[in-house]
Amino acid sequence: MTIIVTSNAERKMLSEAGYADPAINYYLEKKYMGYIENADQVSENVGSCGDTMKIYLKIDDQKIIRDARYEITGCAGAISAAMAAVDLVKGKTIDEALKINDGDVFKILENIPEKKHHCIQLAVKTMHKGIFDFKNKIPS
Ligand code: FES
Repeated sequence: MTIIVTSNAERKMLSEAGYADPAINYYLEKKYMGYIENADQVSENVGSCGDTMKIYLKIDDQKIIRDARYEITGCAGAISAAMAAVDLVKGKTIDEALKINDGDVFKILENIPEKKHHCIQLAVKTMHKGIFDFKNKIPS
């Protein structure tokens, strides 16, 4: 027998696990999941749980982040946090984006289970790593 998990069933499951609606929407939509061809920066990071994230950044001459995408091997918390992080950094300068922290992402998600808070950290650290790697290769 094949069991088809609809997004409604997934939504209910995540809600019961402690994910608030905005977090669930980010997870289900996955709007910034994937890669950017000709990205200006591609960086990878490994979380304390062993899961990995790769970030692709498109940064213009004014050092404004025009686009970002994540490839993720990780849980629902990691995916929703990474998608929210992109919404936070798009249109910001790289220095403004470096000021974004776990609390800012949590505020957008509204809630995820406590044991998943380190997944937010992975999303933010990966984004910061991408920016630092980018800064290291350009003249300041
Ligand atoms: Fe590894 Fe969430 S990213 S458990």
